[in-house]
Amino acid sequence: MAAGFFISKTVGIVAIVLGLGAVATIIALSVVYAQEKNKGTSDVGTSSTPGPNITTTPTSTPTPNNPWNRWRLPTTLKPDSYEVSLQPFLKADANNMYIFKGNSSVVFICMEATNLILIHSNKLNYTMHGSFHATLQAEGGGSAPAISRTWLETPTQYLVVQLETPLQQGQRYRLSCNFTGELADDLAGFYRSEYTDKSGNKQVVATTQMQAADARKAFPCFDEPAMKANFTVTLVHPSNYVAISNMPAKNTMQQMIDGEAWNVTEFETTPRMSTYLLAFIVSQFTYVQNDSESTLIRIWGRPEAISEGQGNYALNVTGPILSFFEGHYNTAYPLPKSDQVGLPDFNAGAMENWGLVTYRENSLLFDAAYSSIGNKERVVTVIAHELAHQWFGNLVTLRWWNDLWLNEGFASYVEYLGADSAEPSWNIKDLMVLNEMHAVMATDALASSHPLSFHEEEINTPAQISEVFDSIAYSKGASVLRMLSDFLSEDIFKQGLQSYLHTFAYNNTVYTDLWVHLQEAVNKNNVPLPNNISDIMDRWTLQMGFPVVTVDTRTGTINQTHFLLDPASSVDRPSAFNYTWIIPITWMIDKSHGNSSYWLTDVTATNNQFKLNSSSWLLLNLNVTGYFRVNYNQENWDQLLNQLVADHQVFPVINRAQIIDDAFNLARAKYVNVTLALNTTRFLSQETEYMPWQAALSNLQYFQLMFDRSEVFGAMSSYMKKQVTPLFAYYKNITNDWKDIPSGLMVQYNEINAISTACSYGITECQDLATNYLLQWQQNASNNPVPPNLRSAIYCSMVATGGEEAWNFLWDRFREASVVSEADKLRTALSCSPHPWILSRYLEYTLDPTKIRKQDATSTINSIASNVVGQPLAWDFIRGNWRMLFSQYGGGSFSFSRLILSVTQRFSSEFELQQLEQFKKDNQDIGFGSGTRALEQALERTRANINWVKENQATVLAWFRGETS
Ligand SMILES: *[C@@H]1O[C@H](CO)[C@@H](O)[C@H](O)[C@H]1NC(C)=O
Ligand SMILES: *[C@@H]1O[C@H](CO)[C@@H](O)[C@H](O)[C@H]1NC(C)=O
Ligand SMILES: *[C@@H]1O[C@H](CO)[C@@H](O)[C@H](O)[C@H]1NC(C)=O
Ligand SMILES: *[C@@H]1O[C@H](CO)[C@@H](O)[C@H](O)[C@H]1NC(C)=O
Ligand SMILES: [Zn+2]
Repeated sequence: MAAGFFISKTVGIVAIVLGLGAVATIIALSVVYAQEKNKGTSDVGTSSTPGPNITTTPTSTPTPNNPWNRWRLPTTLKPDSYEVSLQPFLKADANNMYIFKGNSSVVFICMEATNLILIHSNKLNYTMHGSFHATLQAEGGGSAPAISRTWLETPTQYLVVQLETPLQQGQRYRLSCNFTGELADDLAGFYRSEYTDKSGNKQVVATTQMQAADARKAFPCFDEPAMKANFTVTLVHPSNYVAISNMPAKNTMQQMIDGEAWNVTEFETTPRMSTYLLAFIVSQFTYVQNDSESTLIRIWGRPEAISEGQGNYALNVTGPILSFFEGHYNTAYPLPKSDQVGLPDFNAGAMENWGLVTYRENSLLFDAAYSSIGNKERVVTVIAHELAHQWFGNLVTLRWWNDLWLNEGFASYVEYLGADSAEPSWNIKDLMVLNEMHAVMATDALASSHPLSFHEEEINTPAQISEVFDSIAYSKGASVLRMLSDFLSEDIFKQGLQSYLHTFAYNNTVYTDLWVHLQEAVNKNNVPLPNNISDIMDRWTLQMGFPVVTVDTRTGTINQTHFLLDPASSVDRPSAFNYTWIIPITWMIDKSHGNSSYWLTDVTATNNQFKLNSSSWLLLNLNVTGYFRVNYNQENWDQLLNQLVADHQVFPVINRAQIIDDAFNLARAKYVNVTLALNTTRFLSQETEYMPWQAALSNLQYFQLMFDRSEVFGAMSSYMKKQVTPLFAYYKNITNDWKDIPSGLMVQYNEINAISTACSYGITECQDLATNYLLQWQQNASNNPVPPNLRSAIYCSMVATGGEEAWNFLWDRFREASVVSEADKLRTALSCSPHPWILSRYLEYTLDPTKIRKQDATSTINSIASNVVGQPLAWDFIRGNWRMLFSQYGGGSFSFSRLILSVTQRFSSEFELQQLEQFKKDNQDIGFGSGTRALEQALERTRANINWVKENQATVLAWFRGETS
């Protein structure tokens, strides 16, 4: 699954200007983890310790130790095949409830004699057969033991069947049930999604999300990933609806049921697969399809969206991506067809159900007239991620959820390779460093992080399972596999991977099985490694965090230490390797690449190649393929900085971003001075590439938040203007005065950076550009002249410089916008006003659902708070209305923690700390609901900010002044 927290990954354009997504750069980084959790999973728990506390999560494990009181299935029975028939009712019943009816049977093999059948079942009501929930037959003629008792064991989600006499080893049996379930709008199991069609009528879709443990909510099943079986699905549906499932339909028949005509669609039997990958959908969706490929590909969505061509981009890239993976895995696509469906309500980003992938609409559908290049990048990467799973994950499946990191980390790695095959001109593989590695290092550098790998016994309950879907599993998993693939070479990695897939097709594995097959490829090809793969990889998967590698070029010594962002934090989690790693080192000296391989296997070593004369420089970790940070002696830093200013192109572009990101993070952890970090931004006046700019802007955002109300900001603004002016001119030139769209993904991204930075730091020519667009637009409101990519940045400038008239004009455009992404851009831009009275009025609007939809209220307040003028207004607004906000938005919604964190993100004085403590005291009786933990984090972050500002303000001011005087 592409987790929910992928949503914010695509370039947060406005975030740079407004500070909406100040995720990676805030000082009390414990907050980062909590925010990702909030976006990723449905429940955060109340522990104030950030980080999964999986071994001690209250499990409500019942004390009696009967098999049905344990969360894991016994190994006595093994499913072989299922027949599942489901009939969803797409209209509410007399009790205003949506339900589905079902009957299913499962054939299983008895592996070990037992008189107990345990099968998962959650929230299903059974039609009793006599006094039992199910019937049992022996397959192949014999007689089955009589049932003595059945019941539902609700806490552990089982249907329990006790028998008079034992089942016989080696014998097959069939267990059959009839049941009903609720087709709730809870986004789990078999659920209901709703949308409004063109004529304004509500339409209902019945769809599924089984991962991780919700197939048991659709029908009784052995709901563990290793319990693979063949499934034959039948869907009963109204004749004007279409039914789809993992496999193609075999036949559709009309049938009278309870006096009404229904269509009964039976699907072909699936290959052996896990329950969490099943999917079925009954809808009025339409599709576009591609007949030219060997595999039938269809893109489904709301009829309006499909007829507007919004499925076309997905259709164009799916074929090439499928072919790419067939080659990469050296294995044909295992199923006869590939359907991909965009759903109006969907919890995760997307779900890799075998042959029937489901997506959030914004991750599959693309509207060229309104959507930006960032929206397009999201579509192609999410499709590539889900298609990668069709083999890795679906054909070969990890045995249990403790190894989830390999499944998700792998897909998050090869999604870049797949996307690159569909959009070869984008250089999208480079973006892994910014989007995965730099992003997850912020979390993984905390003392509260956790290792990639868990023990099987640590993960039992559905809540524990959902906790493992975090950024460590996805982004660190991807980064570590990228490193592995790099030091083996992509070819050797592919050989091992292909052999692993061929060996385990239709079966299950543990993560070390992959190491075994990679090791075979290594041995066959005599790849020189200091240790075997599993010894190397254990360091990266069994202990949390990562090293900072420090080289002293005066002596050639090199050493490693566990990198902790907060040097005062203490690590409680023990590591069998004492937080040391086996580290592949690549390097460049002056202009030549290092040509022998070097491994740092000890805490300290000396490599004479790294001993340099004083006019040379050394750069470690070429293209940032290694998952670690790098520090140098001051002399070498100076040489690197000189080279950056003299000719930055000598360094690979990824390393230009690395130097900046490493320096800022090392400064935060007090390895180097803040001035060294700032010095890494000096060459930007000559830089036009996206990655270094993006690394700098996201790191400087923290400086903006801390100082935009102090005299530092004047000097900082002059510096930012000075740095961005050449970039702005460069883009003006290559886009022929902003008329052309430059080619290339990152070229377009950096155009957005150029405009948003130039306009927000007050470059007149940029602001005039926005004003001119506004004048043109005002002459014909239905003819928007602003290119989609530039809209977020330009709209913000229109509002920032345009006064009341401009605000009202954009407000009217917001009110009439019919495309959600366009409305969102406008709504966010409306918070860019510098006028307190306009912002106060806008804050009032957030409480009026006829003006701002309830679901958008808190994110609008957040945008206003991100504006330096709006921030105190929003804080007063929240303090003044807390009781009312709390009752309106309830104690359970996520937005509370985001609200508290965004309104307090600038807090950095004793006075603000006092206000925050007072706020906590004053509202103790009402409470803070889901914002409770965020409030504690805000307090902690404010204290950290106070210290940071105290220590750095004078230095930073002097530095900015020195650069601009
Ligand atoms: C885990 O949670 C328990 C109970 O909430 C707490 O007592 C304990 O300190 C936590 N441990 C860690 C390592 O966070
Ligand atoms: C259960 O479903 C089967 C298959 O549709 C049907 O033949 C049978 O009559 C049902 N039994 C009950 C008790 O509803
Ligand atoms: C299942 O039974 C419970 C208890 O009788 C009832 O509240 C619920 O509505 C039933 N659900 C369905 C889908 O029939
Ligand atoms: C069950 O799946 C296997 C592949 O795992 C396939 O070879 C077999 O044909 C399937 N069985 C049926 C009845 O379709
Ligand atoms: Zn995934």
